[in-house]
Amino acid sequence: MQNTDIAVEIHRLRRERNAIILAHYYVDGEVQDIADHVGDSLQLAQAAAKSRADVIVFAGVHFMAETAKILNPSSTVLLPDLEAGCSLAEGCPAEQFERFTKRHPDHYVISYINCSAAVKALSDCICTSSNAEKIVRSVPADQPILFAPDRNLGRYLEKQTGRPMTLWRGACIVHETFSSRKLIELKIRHPKAVVIAHPECEPNVLDHASFIGSTSALLRYTIEQPHQEFIVATETGILHQMQKYSPDKTFIPAPPDGNCNCNDCPFMKKNTLESVHRALLTMSPEITLDPELARRAKGSLDRMLELS
Ligand code: 13P
Ligand code: SF4
Repeated sequence: MQNTDIAVEIHRLRRERNAIILAHYYVDGEVQDIADHVGDSLQLAQAAAKSRADVIVFAGVHFMAETAKILNPSSTVLLPDLEAGCSLAEGCPAEQFERFTKRHPDHYVISYINCSAAVKALSDCICTSSNAEKIVRSVPADQPILFAPDRNLGRYLEKQTGRPMTLWRGACIVHETFSSRKLIELKIRHPKAVVIAHPECEPNVLDHASFIGSTSALLRYTIEQPHQEFIVATETGILHQMQKYSPDKTFIPAPPDGNCNCNDCPFMKKNTLESVHRALLTMSPEITLDPELARRAKGSLDRMLELS
């Protein structure tokens, strides 16, 4: 089938199933274009929580679809490809994390939403890159904090808030790929370009950024600022919306260290028109969760939503 035919079929099935399609900014542009909502992790969690549709097709990764199911348990949540994981979530197994929290029993546990439901259930509050600073600042100053699983976001938050935290040492395979040396070379070739970066990047990359923020904050910055040229240090999928909102501006993806497409998230790119279509057609793969685990994980997610 041609892409246009697949898109027509997706629209037909979406109506028939009373489904909505949620897409993260990192999935391919053609998948973003057929979605009902495109957004960052927080916006998509909020859209899932308030959805009245019978079915949510989550064009994102596993922890996002799991979050949608926790926040909206009566809907059927489909993830087009179950292999769409996340290095941050996978690098923080619940049993090890539980041992880590037990070694710091007096700590308030804040977990980045990029983690499993089991890790969410062991956390006091969840955050995304949009609200992390606000959530850290909401914790009383004398209360020690344990932050997991992204050490780069954790270190960035420590710098922003002046609060030392006990960090889990996970990282995103995409955001660790950027090379500060190549970034400097690119800046020399494009002296007018402004560097913008996601806080999952390493500190030596963040040091070169004029603006640091979540995917939605980066997008907003490119729309609102008068600059004409941007070097973007995050997953390449976001460039689709940046270019759409500002067709006259130039967006240059920050270069990865090797000669690879490592700034494409292999998990996000599992979402294709074909896999979204198949999910709607077969009503699978479906995300299911143990109700007791979902209830415990919901507590920390609800706390985040209240503070957002
Ligand atoms: P945000 O869209 O919330 O900034 O998250 C980025 C990300 O890495 C999602 O996996
Ligand atoms: Fe996980 Fe990184 Fe991919 Fe986001 S970009 S889903 S953090 S591996």
